[in-house]
Amino acid sequence: MQTIVLATQKGGAGKSTLAISLALAAIRAGHNVRLIETDTQGTLSNWKRRRPYAAPIVEPIYAAREVEQRLQSLGREGVTVTIVDTAGGITAATNSAIRYADFCLIPARPSIADIEATAATLSVVRAWRKPFAYVLNQTPIRSAARLAGAENLLGDEAALDAADIVARPVIVMRNDHQDALIAGLAVCEHAPGGKSAEEIRALWQWVDARLGNASTARDAPIVKELVETPKILPAMAALPSVANDSARFLRVLART
Ligand SMILES: Nc1ncnc2c1ncn2[C@@H]1O[C@H](COP(=O)(O)OP(=O)(O)OP(=O)(O)O)[C@@H](O)[C@H]1O
Ligand SMILES: [Mg+2]
Repeated sequence: MQTIVLATQKGGAGKSTLAISLALAAIRAGHNVRLIETDTQGTLSNWKRRRPYAAPIVEPIYAAREVEQRLQSLGREGVTVTIVDTAGGITAATNSAIRYADFCLIPARPSIADIEATAATLSVVRAWRKPFAYVLNQTPIRSAARLAGAENLLGDEAALDAADIVARPVIVMRNDHQDALIAGLAVCEHAPGGKSAEEIRALWQWVDARLGNASTARDAPIVKELVETPKILPAMAALPSVANDSARFLRVLART
């Protein structure tokens, strides 16, 4: 089993969104994927509650010791890829996840604040001698100069060639990512023909190659239910008991 950890102390950089997106890209590439949520904020658990499909399983595990134990046992259950979503900040659970990671992904928006905030995470990654890459996320369209500047800063921070440690492609800011989350889907299910899905599939292939795996990506999904067009928005919007923000979103969407 290979464990990928999404970590950065900066809130909102895209850890949870990328964890979900990469999980579904990995499933479609033929992996048996497990999602571990170590963030008590519960973004993945909430997403799973809205999700109309059983797979992938999301395991909320918040205690550092339990994270370590679970990451050591999952491989015996036939899981081939585990993706761990961590909380912002540097927590004991994040430290444990990184300790047992095969690869760490550090998301950052192309802003100085996000890039500076990656330093603490990088120091933990380096303390455990783990391979890593930054993922530039929520990048504005047509922002070549800004992206080049961000990549240079990341290279400087890691004292490495940016080309080696910035994952490809960068992930552009698009509504598809947010709409997929609302619907309990990953972007490659929500808008499979869109540019966001294409970027995520390519990002998975980049990560998979870094893990040393031959690319197993194929266009045809292995789980038939994942490609059905869900009709859940109106159905979920009608649910009377849900009182959170996502339900309000759903009601608005259902009316439009
Ligand atoms: N590429 C993208 N395009 C558009 N929106 C995005 C993109 N990536 C993430 N988002 C949105 O940005 C917000 C923050 O993303 P997310 O929750 O994944 O960040 P996070 O790093 O997990 O935050 P936290 O540290 O609070 O857990 C969410 O509303 C998400 O839908
Ligand atoms: Mg999160």
